[in-house]
Amino acid sequence: MKRTILVSILILAVFAAFSLAVAGGDVQRGKALFNSTTLGTNGKSCATCHPGGSRINGKKSSFTIMGHKLGSVEDAVNFCIKMALKGKPLKKDSPEMKALSAYVKTLKGKKRRRRIIKGC
Ligand code: HEC
Repeated sequence: MKRTILVSILILAVFAAFSLAVAGGDVQRGKALFNSTTLGTNGKSCATCHPGGSRINGKKSSFTIMGHKLGSVEDAVNFCIKMALKGKPLKKDSPEMKALSAYVKTLKGKKRRRRIIKGC
């Protein structure tokens, strides 16, 4: 009896994790993509210009990047992929885009802090 309950809980947990990953995009995978240079062709990653997610406030519903208005996180992500990484834009319903935008939505617009270096 105990075993049956344990097994059902386990199955439920796996199912919940799986549906979350499919529906909402896998944040961990998105973070890996954000730090990877495979999205573009110029050896840069998102983290090259946004270390630790800096300068991105993923909670917004529209973005202005270099004077261009973008109406969604996906559009903003694709804009940076095209312009900054010289890569191919991702399809909006692709697992990569879902994962990347799920991660971008967790970012809260940390500004890059100026480092104070002693002796300078
Ligand atoms: C060559 C530098 C560069 C790279 C690489 C880059 N970006 Fe950007 N990104 C910018 C600049 C510049 C802006 C405009 C905002 C600013 O000036 O702080 C911006 C803005 C954004 C914004 C809007 C931020 C906001 O809060 O308005 C998002 C989202 C974004 N980038 C996502 C990405 C993602 C995802 C990647 C990787 C696919 C990426 N960027 C790679 C330079 C870059």
